[in-house]
Amino acid sequence: MDIFRIDGPVKLDGVINVSGSKNAALPIMASALLARGNSIIKDVPKLADIAVLEMLLSSLGAKVHRDQNDDIHIDATTIDNPVGEYDIVRKMRASICILGPLVARCGRAEVSMPGGCAIGDRPVDIHLRGLTELGANIHLENGNIVATAPNGLTGKSIFLGGPFGSTVLGTANILMASTLAKGTTVIESAACEPEITDLANFLNKMGARITGMGSPRLTIEGVDQLKPVEHRVIGDRIEAGTFMVAAAITAGKLEIKNCSLNDMVAVVDRLEKIGVRIDPTEDGCIVTRSGRLIPADVTTQTYPGFPTDLQAQLMALLALADGNSIITEKIFPDRFMHVAEMNRMAANIRKEGPIAIVAGVDRFVAAPIMASDLRASAALVLAAMAAHGRTTISRVYHIDRGYEKIEEKLNAVGAKIIRESV
Ligand code: EPU
Repeated sequence: MDIFRIDGPVKLDGVINVSGSKNAALPIMASALLARGNSIIKDVPKLADIAVLEMLLSSLGAKVHRDQNDDIHIDATTIDNPVGEYDIVRKMRASICILGPLVARCGRAEVSMPGGCAIGDRPVDIHLRGLTELGANIHLENGNIVATAPNGLTGKSIFLGGPFGSTVLGTANILMASTLAKGTTVIESAACEPEITDLANFLNKMGARITGMGSPRLTIEGVDQLKPVEHRVIGDRIEAGTFMVAAAITAGKLEIKNCSLNDMVAVVDRLEKIGVRIDPTEDGCIVTRSGRLIPADVTTQTYPGFPTDLQAQLMALLALADGNSIITEKIFPDRFMHVAEMNRMAANIRKEGPIAIVAGVDRFVAAPIMASDLRASAALVLAAMAAHGRTTISRVYHIDRGYEKIEEKLNAVGAKIIRESV
């Protein structure tokens, strides 16, 4: 198992490149299942989660490989085993996104029911409700979701809202399934995240007829078949936001490339409130921080609100602000595993239900700490770069699920991170 040893404090300075978006790439790769033939997907980051999906798609019968340019080829000419096995699915919750395309393509799909994870229960009831509305028959068998639609799916107006608002992968699943449904599907309370827009753009290139991207109402005119295409996934706005905080927390200066500020309005708003300067460039921005950090209140919301996937990272920054901040988690109310670890580094954060009260301290102090989930571990890396002394972070496999070459990228701009196998 790998650990990070991180020496701090450092002041980051330089140019850093954002990789392709993991959360855009995953459903896009799954939607390649909808077309017979070879789809080519570019800028797919090399991550543990992507490798799991490659394995899963291969197990269904697709031929998947990365070429010398690092493009992923998915040849879905033959899909002869529409079964997402537990041994693969359990490694990554996002595996659920094969359900919609499989049932649309094969008339049957069996996918192991995903369990909970470190950030909460994470049910899939809305995915199943949406597929049922499209005419699929769904039952549970030995812990597997079995969805059948031998005569195909039929379009309909579907409300996809849930107790926490829209669902990203739920919207992705119903969107993918409805492209091949008979007639028109309208998804109300659809997720508006840029990753869903990227997916819809990919599907439209394949021949789907989707309108309303970026809005909570997606309209899909079903078509008989889709064709394989080539597509480049968007930059990862969560990785970009993590680098913005990295510049801010180290009082440094980073030019961040391949980053669309248009997709990050809420993040820019909060960072500027905290005293971080963000100057747009042609393909990203320059982030600097010279003064003190100002406390701010932050509430996570669905897009275009502040993303839950940057909550932990922002908490690390606010832990060093001049006063008290309140962070309210409205998407995953239990997503606070990082609080205890940051407190081990001398932060002063109190959790009360879905709220964290962050009393700013002067500095983080290095300590041995443990990564609990992907974004929490990114936040701990940020805290460690600002901390005084050498921090050891164990279980960094969490970070490898979602950040491509993170220590190489950060070391190139002044971080001191050593990866060790123990
Ligand atoms: N929810 C339900 N029922 C459902 C589906 C969701 O109640 O059927 C609830 C969830 O429990 C949660 C809320 O709705 O409270 C939103 O969850 P959502 O379905 O949007 O999450 P997701 O699609 O499973 C994606 C990202 C997550 C990100 C969330 C929220 C991918 C692969 N994952 O998950 O990313 O946190 O949207 O933006 O796209 C990460 O990258 O670290 C990560 C966890």
